[in-house]
Amino acid sequence: MVLMSPAPRSPQPDSRDPLAPVWRGAFTNRQANALHSEAFETRLFSADEWDWVALTERHSLGWVTVHDGGELVGFVNVPWDGFIHAWIQDVMVAASHQHQGMGAALVKAAADGARAAGCEWLHVDFDDDLAPFYYEACGFSPAKAGLIEL
Ligand SMILES: CC(C)(COP(=O)(O)OP(=O)(O)OC[C@H]1O[C@@H](n2cnc3c(N)ncnc32)[C@H](O)[C@@H]1OP(=O)(O)O)[C@@H](O)C(=O)NCCC(=O)NCCS
Repeated sequence: MVLMSPAPRSPQPDSRDPLAPVWRGAFTNRQANALHSEAFETRLFSADEWDWVALTERHSLGWVTVHDGGELVGFVNVPWDGFIHAWIQDVMVAASHQHQGMGAALVKAAADGARAAGCEWLHVDFDDDLAPFYYEACGFSPAKAGLIEL
């Protein structure tokens, strides 16, 4: 059995397309918490409460970033099982950049990164209202899933 290691960071955005998603791009906790607060309409967490940088480094195969003017405007986390299954978690696009294809581009970059690492399956779960985004814009197939609130 060959276990794939996460690819090294590639923090440089494409100079020809600054809004192109970057696999394992650099970001700060302030940026991630600000984007999360806006996208999910939560209070603003501090880095002490939610240390995205440490958590993604420790637990994720990768993540995808999009910056605009120094701010993080798109992000998705990609945890995995260390072998062939990866998940997308916390897909988020700033309100100012929504409905321009960025969400679908983030998911595509996540799928590309997971495929390159040897993964065979990319999982997601979501509420009914996001079915058009995941099925039509991102290309997920419907599948049964389960959840237990712990
Ligand atoms: C969901 C989200 C990431 C989509 O980002 P986006 O950049 O606007 O997505 P795209 O532009 O790639 O969308 C492509 C298509 O998907 C569908 N879609 C996008 N957002 C949708 C939403 N919130 N509800 C239903 N369908 C949606 C639309 O058909 C859209 O096409 P349109 O722009 O012509 O209407 C963004 O709305 C967001 O950050 N939401 C808040 C956080 C969230 O709920 N994340 C998902 C957690 S499971």
